Amino acid sequence: MPVQRRVNQKSTDNNGIEKKIKRGNAHRQASFWKRPPGYLLVLTAFGVCGAVSWLYLTFDNEITETLVRQGEVVQQPKIFQVQCSEDYDNYKRYPGCTPQTCGRAVTDGVVTHEEARALRRLAERGLSLAGSDGGASILDLHSGALSMGKQFVNIYRYFGERIKDVFSEEDFQLYRAVRARIQGVIAEMFGLDPSRMYLTKPTFFSRINSSAAKTTHDEYWHPHIDKVTYGSFDYTSLLYLSDYGGDFGGGRFVFMDADGNRTVEPRAGRVSFFSSGSENLHRVEKVGWGTRFAITVSFTCDPAHAIADPALP
Ligand SMILES: *[C@@H]1O[C@H](CO)[C@@H](O)[C@H](O)[C@H]1NC(C)=O
Ligand SMILES: *[C@@H]1O[C@H](CO)[C@@H](O)[C@H](O)[C@H]1NC(C)=O
Repeated sequence: MPVQRRVNQKSTDNNGIEKKIKRGNAHRQASFWKRPPGYLLVLTAFGVCGAVSWLYLTFDNEITETLVRQGEVVQQPKIFQVQCSEDYDNYKRYPGCTPQTCGRAVTDGVVTHEEARALRRLAERGLSLAGSDGGASILDLHSGALSMGKQFVNIYRYFGERIKDVFSEEDFQLYRAVRARIQGVIAEMFGLDPSRMYLTKPTFFSRINSSAAKTTHDEYWHPHIDKVTYGSFDYTSLLYLSDYGGDFGGGRFVFMDADGNRTVEPRAGRVSFFSSGSENLHRVEKVGWGTRFAITVSFTCDPAHAIADPALP
């Protein structure tokens, strides 16, 4: 919340400054015709230059670097290595799974556009059954949790047999196939044994629009560390189902490093994955317009936290 408040504050300030600049210009133009005092022009020039460089510096500090743009297509994973945090020391180590090297990667080569479209339709159908009163809704096919108003319901209990009219066996097959491929690419990138990493919860579809938050469940934009939030996480992945700039604005994924912010622009079918510790502190920008769909798929090294693939009851 404090981060976002500061951003809002800045944009309000900027609007205010822009208005002042405009008002100042209009005022000066009016008086200019009466008596053109040279020193005023010089002062104005300095003032405008100052304001412009201030705005430039302010904005420049917010986002340092874009790791992958929406329009770029990365067939082979683009990898960014970072030093592992000590978070993993607080947990039992599992050979062949616990992160030895840490980092982040982005690939458009794991899930096809057609698959992303099919998964998005699945998400749309599921989430159309209910949804949060605020801007962020989730659907967890494993637990059945679906946002409804200010809370959650269990779709399998709430809708009973009718859920089979909403989701088909093919939907679940597609989900499983995509999950397995994501697991494969994570194992390959981090040099793991894929049979020693397990799907864990929460694993969910998300739908975010610009509506104001009604409860803390809607506040997706806070900086966080997955391993701190959910102790079982070792690798987090995100599969985007819609396009930044085309389907929605804002909503970029931001890795918040000590030396700068690094963003990933969502693209339908894009998979972004990373080790879940403090080395990957992150947040999602507030969505400004449109609707952003994604799936979070999380993995653990601890068999005690393993969950089965979701299946129709
Ligand atoms: C966001 O989605 C909800 C449906 O969950 C809808 O009621 C609301 O009007 C949407 N907000 C915007 C700004 O489109
Ligand atoms: C990263 O962005 C946040 C705002 O989202 C800002 O407060 C912080 O200073 C930025 N970090 C760096 C190192 O520029």
